[in-house]
Amino acid sequence: MLSVVGACALLAGCGQGGEKTAQAPAAPAVPEPTDAEKQALLAALPAPYNTADLANGKQKFGMCRSCHTIVPGGANMTGPNLHGVFGRKAGEVASYKYSDAVTNAGFVWDAAHLDKWLAEPRTFLPGTKMSFAGLKDPKDRIDLIAFLKVETGYKAP
Ligand code: HEC
Repeated sequence: MLSVVGACALLAGCGQGGEKTAQAPAAPAVPEPTDAEKQALLAALPAPYNTADLANGKQKFGMCRSCHTIVPGGANMTGPNLHGVFGRKAGEVASYKYSDAVTNAGFVWDAAHLDKWLAEPRTFLPGTKMSFAGLKDPKDRIDLIAFLKVETGYKAP
């Protein structure tokens, strides 16, 4: 008898069903794209983004992570949540308080605007409160922008 109890303690699945359900993580509302889906999204981007290095883009996003989330419904931190940023007007996250520079920018974020912004935010939009010096290497910016397109729910028009 004792050995059966021991087996039950070791095996998941012979305990009570209720406990198992309580421990299961909640299913995410939007499933994460698989790596294969990410590669397909990448390949569908216009050149030069279709041949970008997503791993390098992800690494470069490490410089943004302390201030920005990219997941759907992610928190605003020092900077606004960036999910859905492509095709969105600058300064449009309602729950975030932007500088006048970004609020009044008046353009829609696309790769070309993001490229200039990331090269030198304070030259591109003087008066911005984004304190990021800039990403000088054009290839790094391509990789980062492609990474952001793949990760922030960009849909080709
Ligand atoms: C030190 C914090 C900080 C870092 C690092 C940072 N940002 Fe920001 N970001 C901000 C702030 C603050 C704003 C709002 C700027 C304003 O209102 O002037 C912003 C705004 C933005 C916007 C405009 C969003 C919108 O809704 O219009 C984009 C795009 C952006 N950041 C991308 C990036 C990327 C990509 C990186 C990494 C290369 C980065 N940021 C690094 C703080 C940061």
